[in-house]
Amino acid sequence: MKTFSDGDWVLLTTDKGKNWLVRLIHGEYFSCHLGTIAHDEIIGKQEGDEWITPKGQKIFFFSPTLTDFLFHIKRRTQIIYPKDIGAILCYGDIRPHMSVLESGVGSGALTVFLLAYLAGCGILVSVEAREEFAKLAENNIRRVFGKKPDNWHLVVSDIELPGISAQFDRLILDLPEPWKAVPSATPLLKRGGILVSLSPQISQIQWVSRELKKQGFRFIQVFEILKRDWYVDEKRLRPMDRMVAHTGFLIVARKTY
Ligand SMILES: C[S@@+](CC[C@H](N)C(=O)[O-])C[C@H]1O[C@@H](n2cnc3c(N)ncnc32)[C@H](O)[C@@H]1O
Repeated sequence: MKTFSDGDWVLLTTDKGKNWLVRLIHGEYFSCHLGTIAHDEIIGKQEGDEWITPKGQKIFFFSPTLTDFLFHIKRRTQIIYPKDIGAILCYGDIRPHMSVLESGVGSGALTVFLLAYLAGCGILVSVEAREEFAKLAENNIRRVFGKKPDNWHLVVSDIELPGISAQFDRLILDLPEPWKAVPSATPLLKRGGILVSLSPQISQIQWVSRELKKQGFRFIQVFEILKRDWYVDEKRLRPMDRMVAHTGFLIVARKTY
């Protein structure tokens, strides 16, 4: 069981799921609409312990999951949602010892999970055209992992002219015009390698699909992931009224030659 120490990240969460991500610093205080607590009161507590606020509500202490970090990272771009990240990791077959090329990086949300799945073995090269987003992503990655992982190489460049000569097992694209990146990125993918690209519009997927076929990709799959949350309690057994109905479409393909 984890005991929280000075410098640890802690997720403070109510029963209803309202939560805050806090870095514990000796001498500092956390305040919200429910009350104020000294970080020193949390330091030494164990995961799952609770604080009864002055308003009588319980706030639990947990180590943040990667998904908690995802929803608390600093964002200046659209990030990829967990449901799509799960599919990218699964259909993109991301595993330790793989070499992975990713572009663009944006806020680094997907990057967090790619690095976690590589587990320090293998290599991730992330290509981002805009310096300010590269810096933002780097800060977010340092926040999650406590440092810049040794197997992560962040390159500020246009993926259409990447200036990279290595070859990779996997290629993951999250770009506004991914079809334009396919000709330049294809030589960077090993034969038999897998490409995954995410786009919000199906017309973008169609352009990518056309380009992939021209470049010798086969076994093309196009799909979307829908996540519908449900109420399951004594009174209700039904889907929730609201859902994130659309994020993006995924296209997965395998390079044959
Ligand atoms: C939607 S964001 C990526 C979000 C990221 N996957 C995440 O989960 O946080 C798209 C990014 O692609 C970058 N981009 C656009 N065109 C590019 C290009 N030709 N080469 C490299 N990066 C590019 C943009 O600057 C932007 O940061």
